[in-house]
Amino acid sequence: EKATVAFSIIRSLSAMVRKSNETFLEDLKAKNEKLEIANKNLREAQEELIRQERFSNLGKFSSMILHDLKNPISIIKAYAQMLKGDESLPERTIKYISNIHNEVERLNNLANELLDYSRGDIRLNMNIVNIDDFLSRLKTSIESRFANKNINLRFENSCKNPVLLDYERFFRVLMNLAENARKAMGKKGIFSISVTEDHSFITFIVQDNGEGMDKETMKHIFEPFYSSSKSGGTGLGMVIVKNVIEAHDGHMEVESTPGRGTKISITIPAK
Ligand SMILES: Nc1ncnc2c1ncn2[C@@H]1O[C@H](COP(=O)(O)OP(=O)(O)OP(=O)(O)O)[C@@H](O)[C@H]1O
Ligand SMILES: [Mg+2]
Repeated sequence: EKATVAFSIIRSLSAMVRKSNETFLEDLKAKNEKLEIANKNLREAQEELIRQERFSNLGKFSSMILHDLKNPISIIKAYAQMLKGDESLPERTIKYISNIHNEVERLNNLANELLDYSRGDIRLNMNIVNIDDFLSRLKTSIESRFANKNINLRFENSCKNPVLLDYERFFRVLMNLAENARKAMGKKGIFSISVTEDHSFITFIVQDNGEGMDKETMKHIFEPFYSSSKSGGTGLGMVIVKNVIEAHDGHMEVESTPGRGTKISITIPAK
């Protein structure tokens, strides 16, 4: 009798031990799985951190390289400018030099833009700007970019008061938009820039009658490195345009119809 009782006690005790052993093992397994997941997450986070570090180094280096690139570029530009004014040179040579000058100018702009982009935030260099003077310089640059094309250029300005803006950056904003319009217009077209003033706001309207954009393209134009350009583009133009305008506390609107053209309105406070 006693033996049976002892036996059944032992049996149930051993069952309890086994059970608790099993739950202990299961518990351990679950904990181990959790640990593995945590470890995997940690490894991924670490990889991401290394990747970001690499990117940020790349950004730092590229802005240093770009900065140094600007020196030789401006030297080439100065020589080209000097040669351009040399009237003893044959007409064809002058034309070639003028092409060199234009392309160097483009390189310089690109270096400036990438520099702005790699810096992230833009520190503005404010100037008091007379819009008539600004537009007249812009017209000269656009005319030389649009040479060899049959494009009707229209510039209008009804803003007579001086405006506070970052001259060089704003100049590049409009050159960027003009360049996009040039690419969209093909051999001929109409391109216009008009400036108006309304209370303490200045509005620039930039319009072309080029190929325009469909809704899908419109969704991507402010994405870095998005470009649908067949003639080659970095896809940074519009990103920089937007950044510069926002740095001026302004905003922009884009309206476009495929086959009809594009209208871009930029509004900034005149300050
Ligand atoms: N005026 C326009 N007409 C038609 N499409 C345009 C116009 N402006 C911009 N786009 C579209 O928006 C895209 C992005 O423009 P963005 O200026 O950022 O790049 P990109 O001109 O291709 O290259 P880049 O960096 O040399 O300026 C263009 O590739 C084009 O598809
Ligand atoms: Mg562009």
